[in-house]
Amino acid sequence: MSGRLAPSILSADPTRLLEAVRLVEGLGAGLIHIDIMDGHYVPNLTFGPELVRALKKHTPLPLDVHLMVDEPGRIIPLFLAAGADWLSFHPEASTHVHRDLYQIKEAGRKAGLVLNPATPPDVLSEVLPDLDFILIMCVNPGWGSQAFIPACRDKIRRLKKRIDEAGLNIPLCVDGGVKADNIAGLVADGAEVLVAGSAIFSDPDPAGAFNRLARLAGDERQG
Ligand code: DX5
Ligand code: ZN
Repeated sequence: MSGRLAPSILSADPTRLLEAVRLVEGLGAGLIHIDIMDGHYVPNLTFGPELVRALKKHTPLPLDVHLMVDEPGRIIPLFLAAGADWLSFHPEASTHVHRDLYQIKEAGRKAGLVLNPATPPDVLSEVLPDLDFILIMCVNPGWGSQAFIPACRDKIRRLKKRIDEAGLNIPLCVDGGVKADNIAGLVADGAEVLVAGSAIFSDPDPAGAFNRLARLAGDERQG
């Protein structure tokens, strides 16, 4: 992975998604974050596996698929077949968390769990060594452009400490409300991947916004 930024195309113009992907690819994004919402686990509806399959043909960047769906185990095979590289789901939405993680891992893809703002890190305990990454939500899942919940910073620091003390190497990814005014602090807290949607794509100058965030996050390519 090159850059630390994982632009979320949820906030991009839905009629111009490929342009959005190509823009951030050219600027040094590390991943493309794709938010899947099912209208049940969260009220909103977004994309499906066909978008993942289509984008996969047009970008070399890993596709980071964030499943905000009930019973992710049922739909994981469709996203694996579509070419998702990183796949994460919310543990409270899955009846069989371990099985669902291993569906992803056995396909050779990266498996992650997502913590909502009110979800304590303890839910990860039994599967911590199995995780390839952890996605920490700093907003409640469902929409872009929501306000950052400051209490999440302490959770990032606690998780980082716990992972380091266990001698594990599990990247912490932060999703929701990531902006120019908090991104450097999140990196200092231990975040390695920063998902940013509206901070990039709702800016009148998305390329300038991307470069500013990348610089603040300490991406080397941005000097
Ligand atoms: C929220 C999604 C996020 C969203 C972030 O449910 O999981 O990935 O795109 O959007 P911003 O960066 O605008 O908070
Ligand atoms: Zn997301």
